[in-house]
Amino acid sequence: MTKELKPVARFLMGPGPSDVNPRVLKAMATPMIGHLDPQFIQIMDEVMEMTRQLFQTKNQVTSVISATGSAGMETCFVNLLEPGDTAIICVSGVFGNRMCDIVERCGAKLVRVDAKWGEPVDPVQVKKALESCQPKLVAIVHAETSTGVLQPLEEISKMVHDAGALFVVDTVTSLAGTQVKVDEWGIDAVYSGTQKCISAPPGLSPVSFSSKSLEAMDSRKTKVQSWYLDLSMIRKYWTGAKRAYHHTGPVSMIYSIHEALRIVHEEGLEARFARHKLNHEKLRDGLEEMGFEFIVAPGYRLPMLNAVKIPSGFDDATVRSRLLNEYNIEIGAGLGDFAGKVWRIGLMGESCTINHINMVLAALKQIMV
Ligand SMILES: Cc1ncc(COP(=O)(O)O)c(C=O)c1O
Repeated sequence: MTKELKPVARFLMGPGPSDVNPRVLKAMATPMIGHLDPQFIQIMDEVMEMTRQLFQTKNQVTSVISATGSAGMETCFVNLLEPGDTAIICVSGVFGNRMCDIVERCGAKLVRVDAKWGEPVDPVQVKKALESCQPKLVAIVHAETSTGVLQPLEEISKMVHDAGALFVVDTVTSLAGTQVKVDEWGIDAVYSGTQKCISAPPGLSPVSFSSKSLEAMDSRKTKVQSWYLDLSMIRKYWTGAKRAYHHTGPVSMIYSIHEALRIVHEEGLEARFARHKLNHEKLRDGLEEMGFEFIVAPGYRLPMLNAVKIPSGFDDATVRSRLLNEYNIEIGAGLGDFAGKVWRIGLMGESCTINHINMVLAALKQIMV
């Protein structure tokens, strides 16, 4: 007989998922109701309103896609791009590369603007790319989880709009851990994930679309190539007067984000961002005292993801598996170009506490004597 699930509890200090508040887990055990039940429609409306507040937007079409952050990414591109369109993608790590892959699968022409890993994308390079073509959209990652870079957005947003294109932003890692001002920064399509600073389980992708991006979708000549992610149908379920069935809403997951967003707004956005910044500084001081070097220059570091070089003489996998098996602490390995060279220590949402910082520093000290 297969045994009941009993995984050892961990302290989640990697690139996500982060620790989940017991209130969120309890909300997931709320009795099942139908996904078209008027009570559930009310819960969806509350999730939409709390998501708007989190994205700092008035966009009516602000909801959650029933799958992880990559589905939010794919939703933006498959709905906005048609074969033959041009897209400029800013690439400074793994997730910019993932965007490029999706753009090509849409049959669109890809123009890349590359930055060195560990550095932000240079607005001058974006300007050059905008002068070389007439893109339908320009996309960029706000918090590049593979490198730990926080990308400034406002200057690039202005250039994109001056060129008449749509501005698409990945906020999977930044949302709920640092400012994401969708309206003020002129973002036309944005997506995120639940398992990082929102601190809900993985499985949903909050999204928001400006009226300009909805107009672009409404004037498509071809059908969206993905049935599941076709926003013209998903919109009717989330925001239509009649709430038409598209796919069965993931009821318990919606319960989870409902409670997680209540917790985010109880704390308050400004207080939450200040906590992430302060704790990042505490972790940075402790790591630097031990001789660790950060990958990213000070002005561009993510508060919720700290990418440091693995000191010479230490084996990546050995240290991480000792942290996991002896201390129940998970940290992230390097991805792509940084595999084997970098550790990524997350301070996201519920995992962003002084206790987590003290534990990881003490454990690293004991392992690396
Ligand atoms: C910046 C960024 N974008 C997109 C994704 C993809 O999200 P998911 O793994 O939830 O599909 C991630 C996941 O780590 C991410 O960090």
